[in-house]
Amino acid sequence: MTRLPWRESFLLPTGTYLDGNSLGPATLAARTAIERRFRQWHHHGVGAWDDWFGLAERLRPALARLVGAHPDEVVPTGGITVNLHALLAGLYRPDGERRAIVALAREFPSDLYALRSWTERHGAELRLVGGDGPEPELVDEAEIEAVLGADVAALWVPAVTYRAGQRLDLARLTRAAHAAGAWIGVDAAHSIGALPHAFHDDGVDAAVWCSYKYLNGGPGAPGGLYLHRRHHARDPGLPGWWGHDKGTQFEMRPTFAPAEGAAAWQIGTPPILALAGLEGALAIFEEVGIDAVRERSLELTARLLEAVTERLPEVEAITPRDPVRRGGHVALRHDSARALSQALRAEGVIPDHRPPDLLRLAPVALYNDDADVDRAVDALRTLLDDPGRWRLGAAGGAEPSVP
Ligand SMILES: Cc1ncc(COP(=O)(O)O)c(C=O)c1O
Repeated sequence: MTRLPWRESFLLPTGTYLDGNSLGPATLAARTAIERRFRQWHHHGVGAWDDWFGLAERLRPALARLVGAHPDEVVPTGGITVNLHALLAGLYRPDGERRAIVALAREFPSDLYALRSWTERHGAELRLVGGDGPEPELVDEAEIEAVLGADVAALWVPAVTYRAGQRLDLARLTRAAHAAGAWIGVDAAHSIGALPHAFHDDGVDAAVWCSYKYLNGGPGAPGGLYLHRRHHARDPGLPGWWGHDKGTQFEMRPTFAPAEGAAAWQIGTPPILALAGLEGALAIFEEVGIDAVRERSLELTARLLEAVTERLPEVEAITPRDPVRRGGHVALRHDSARALSQALRAEGVIPDHRPPDLLRLAPVALYNDDADVDRAVDALRTLLDDPGRWRLGAAGGAEPSVP
């Protein structure tokens, strides 16, 4: 198969779009949903809340299927950093000797800022695993296990690393965290919409994600939060009226009565127009199913990795070749990754660059095909054969950078 029959559902930018791991492209479904919610606003004004109230809750089953959870364990809300702060406010209550949080030195910076703010507040250690220099990029679960001592309160890991595109073994890390007496939280930014998860069965305690990458919810669309049922009796860390029990929210009582499960961790009014983008985009995943997405994604990334080995010996693919260990994108290392990324964009192939030396390419199952992969490899081969062309042009040029 060269293509899933979904490309026509996308409104792709000009060129070969391989940056859906940063910002997923627009869909017809998202546009239709946003226009519908806009019309409601136009025609019904405040009366439209009759339909919007509970919209976030109605998306829970679809999200639950994507992360392998029960619907009451998830809710679309906030963003990764905000939700991480909320989770820490609720779950990270260190006492006695058990205070440290373990995370990867190469975790996404915003996660590290949030984690460190909480360990500092509690006079605790943020214990970082692995280096943050250029080598090695891949994570060894054994290294994480080795630092999970009796002083560790929590482990925070990505499901797929944002740089190398390595998928971590969450079942194994969850067992290790629990055996050490810690809870485990997961950043699923680079895995949701690219591959299936089994958060509930793996026993993962909590997770957060965004909707603007593989889910194609749109820039700034609400992210999501997962909380295992074993934590549902806890008070949310940052309570707000949108997390109040829906049946009595508008009785405006002065004390907080939590909504069911993860929904209690919502804080304020959801951005309905942005939520509509996610509403539309999720409908596609409901139809195609995440297993089919994963199968095709692995074919595309395998094709890319093979072509890099055969045709681009100057670059090093650092993404694992083992499909079990691979996420949705492929990271290539080259000293001039930044300049190459800019030159590729000029050629109509859209990758991105992560400093100092990574070029990331995400052939996405729903809208990319074999020809897109081949075009990217051809373009890179042409550029590498003619470095004068892009080395000169690249000096100081700004690459539009998105998360
Ligand atoms: C892995 C990862 N974590 C966290 C973030 C920050 O997300 P947000 O801006 O939604 O808080 C990003 C943003 O791209 C990310 O890729």
